[in-house]
Order: sequence, then structure tokens, then C-alpha cells
Amino acid sequence: MPKERWSSKLGIILAVAGSAIGLGNFLRFPVQAAGNGGGAFMIPYFVALLLVGLPLMWIEWTIGRFGGGFGHSTAPGMFHTLWEKNKFIKYFGVIGIFGPIVIFIYYVYIESWLLGYSVFALLGKYNSCTTEQSMSAFLQAYQGLVKNEFFAGIAPAYFFFLITFILNVWVVYMGIQKGIEKVCEWALAVLFLFGVILVIRVLTLGAPDPAKPDFNTINGLGFLWNPDWSALKSAKVWLAATGQIFFTLSCGIGVILTYASYLTKQDDVALSGLSAASANEFAEVILGGSIVIPAAFAFFGPAGAKNIAAGGAFNLGFVTMPLVMEKIAFGNIFGFMWFMLLFLAGITSSISLAQPAIAFLEDEFNCSKKRACGIFGIVTFVLCQPAIFLLSKGVVDELDFWGGTFCLVLFATIESILFAWVFGMEKAWTELHVGSDITIPRIYRFIIKYITPAFLLVILGMWFWQDWRSVILMKNVSQENRPYVLATRIGLVIFFGILVFLVFHAWQKRKQKGEQNAS
Ligand code: ALA
Repeated sequence: MPKERWSSKLGIILAVAGSAIGLGNFLRFPVQAAGNGGGAFMIPYFVALLLVGLPLMWIEWTIGRFGGGFGHSTAPGMFHTLWEKNKFIKYFGVIGIFGPIVIFIYYVYIESWLLGYSVFALLGKYNSCTTEQSMSAFLQAYQGLVKNEFFAGIAPAYFFFLITFILNVWVVYMGIQKGIEKVCEWALAVLFLFGVILVIRVLTLGAPDPAKPDFNTINGLGFLWNPDWSALKSAKVWLAATGQIFFTLSCGIGVILTYASYLTKQDDVALSGLSAASANEFAEVILGGSIVIPAAFAFFGPAGAKNIAAGGAFNLGFVTMPLVMEKIAFGNIFGFMWFMLLFLAGITSSISLAQPAIAFLEDEFNCSKKRACGIFGIVTFVLCQPAIFLLSKGVVDELDFWGGTFCLVLFATIESILFAWVFGMEKAWTELHVGSDITIPRIYRFIIKYITPAFLLVILGMWFWQDWRSVILMKNVSQENRPYVLATRIGLVIFFGILVFLVFHAWQKRKQKGEQNAS
């Protein structure tokens, strides 16, 4: 089967930018920044971007294109081509298929809420909720956690989940050019348009309550950006900033490897990687930083904004923003734009999470696209059910921890060492510059070889040192949720084992085929 290709350079830049720009940019980032020193957060944030984020972007684009040249679109095959003599390295690559599937399982459900809320915004369905309590009650009833006058059960949420799920599988089924590339092109255009409109609307709100002139958007920007320098002394702030860089750039997940495998040997990766990262940073720092917190501040003041930010990303997105929208003219339209922007940010990320598993089945098992999407669809549909029905039992948090936090750092550490130390920095640097439209400053040779792996090892080490006991013993999980969290863990281990077996089986088949051809 000939390998699929991107139709243009812009196509892959938009696809990677689409993968990177997600809920993390508009909800997670403002909460992290507000809670970790405001403007001072941006120092560790940019340090992590320059020392870990950008290097990982280049590492993943280069490994992806290199592995793609050998017919591999996923990490097991790519790791094997980087270190052919090692029989075990391909099994480490399993994390690059496992992680995206685990994130996909819960991400797609949350994404479906956004589709639901876009419709509710247009229909004015939550307009009767005028307080934080009633808006929270609306959300909880929608999630099926309680029954009240808003929803009698989970059926509406399930309906929007089905649409979102089918849409995701359909886009990946349509392929790289006609599916992923097309969707990212128009989705990002609409997303930036809605983003700019919302930023202008928020920044021109001024002081909505004349009796409280200090509650205005300029002070809201100050609330977010004025630096609390003492925060720089806290390790927690540095960890939070690094975690945000990983999450927002979609680094260490495995998806960029897969996207880059559809490049040809002469396609640029250096400038393209930089462009995708820059688009993401614009969406995050400029757009993400100028919507929710300034809006919350203008209506609820400093104490309110602080509470809201401490309430977390979901509270900000699904409770505060609809309340804010209700208070402005044409709020239904702006509310629709807000949720649609998030839905589009979500779907361009979730399709990238689906692609590694599909590419694995296509490459290593010779499955047709239809068959690969069918298998992926059935398996992930079943796996999504616990995330939907056991939402309140800590299942989503558990999936997010392993798939969306731990695996990212582990996988990034492995691939950066493999790239710089096993493949070798000399070859790695040359490979990174093949077909390149820019020359990367030489300092990055040093950074990629020493700083990035060391930075990652320190973070991993700190995690083991500080947290592994409490995580393994479920110390932060309530007694009631422990059986569910344990069952989720066992399920994840079994699922990982199945993927390891599939890699083993694929390589056995390949070996047999090689022997037959030789005889
Ligand atoms: N990078 C994606 C986000 O920010 C996963 O949501």
C-alpha cells in the first residue's frame, strides 16, 4: 500500500497546530497561570518552552519523518529503526500508541459536552441559570450525576457523545488529506476568527458595573499577568509550567511522530515544527490569556476571579463563561462562539489522538483504512463507557494522570535519550536539517543533547521521589472511589499488555516473512 502524504507544507503545520491547540490553551493555561504566580509563571513557562518544548517538537518531527521513510508511522517501528540492535526498544514505543488512546477515551467525551453546550447556547437552554449554583447544577445534571429540572438523565449527553465519536472516526477514516488536513484547515480558521472576536468583546467590556469601576478587564489582565516573583522559588510552579508546555504542545504523546511520518524525506521539519509551536503559543498566550480570566474579573472582581480560577478549568469553561455570556448583549451568540471554539479546538486534537492506533494497524498488520477504523472505533467505543458512566468515581482523573501526564514525561524522556544518545547527536542534527528551510542555532545541539534529557530526568526523578508512594497506594483517592480507580489501573495494565503482545506478534510475522523471502 503506498504511504499517505500531506498535500502541502501548510497542511501538516495546521494539522500539528490543530493537535496542539486544544482545551489546554483556553481553559488549562489561564487556570495554571492564575494559580501559579500570574506573570511570574511565564518565566518558567518560557524556559520550559525553550529547553523542552521546542527541542521535543524538533525531535518528534525528525524521528517521525525518519521512521516514516522505513514505512513506520508509530513509535514501536520508529524506535526500532533508531536502535535496530536492541530487541526491546520497540516495546517502549508502545507508550506512543497507548497514551493517545487513553487520552482519546476521556477527551472525546469532554469534547462532546462542548458540542452540546454550543447547541444549548443558541437555544438559550441554560439562560434560566443565573447563579453559580444553578449553572453547576445544570452541568451536573447534563453529566448524569444528578437529576433535576434541567435533565432527567444522561441521554442528551450520550446523544452528543455519539455524534462527536462518529465524527472523529469519520474524519480519520477519510484519511490524511481529505480528512485530517481538510478539517484542520477550516476548523483552525473558524477557531481563530471566533477567538479574535471573543478577545475584542471581552477587552471592550470595560467596567460592566458602573458602581464597581475597579472590576474591569484591564485590571483583569493585571490580575493574570502582574508577577508574583516569590512564586519562582517554588518547585511546584516550575513543574506546573513544564507540565503545561507538554500538554499544550502535544509533546511526548506520540501524535506528532505519526503526523510527521507522512512527510517525504526532503520535507522541512525545522521551520514547520517552529511554526506549529508558534501558532499554538499565539492561541494560548494571546487568545487563551485574554478571554476567561479578564471576563471573570470584570463581572466577579478579584476575589470572585480567584475563587473561579481555583475551581479549575471545567468550572471556568462550563459555569463561569456561560454566566458571563448571559450578562452581555447577544450573549447566546457569543456563548455559541465560545463553546464552538472549544469544540473545534477539541476535535482537531482528538483526531490526532486517534491516528497513531489506526496507523499502527495499517502499517504493522496490513489492515485497510476501513478495517483499521472499524477496529479502533469498536475498541475505543467500549473503553469510553467507564469514562462516561463512572465520571464521578475518579475514572477520568485516573486516565488523565496516566495517559495525559505520566506517560508524556516518560515517553519524552525515552525518545530524547534515544535521539541524542543512541541514534547519536551528529546524525540527529544532520537528519533534523535535511530539507530544512532554516538553520537552527547551534546552541540547540547542546540543549537537545544535554539539557532536554537532563531536564526530563530531573522531573521524572522528582516525581518518583515525591509522589510515587502516594500514587501507588491511592492516598489521594477517596475510600469510596478506590475500587473504581483500582479497576481502571488493572484495565490499563491489561490493555498495555495487549498492545505489547500485538507488537511482538507483528515483529514475529515480519521475521517469518523475511525468512520465507530469503529461502
Ligand atoms: N494539546 C492539546 C490541548 O492543549 C491536547 O488540549
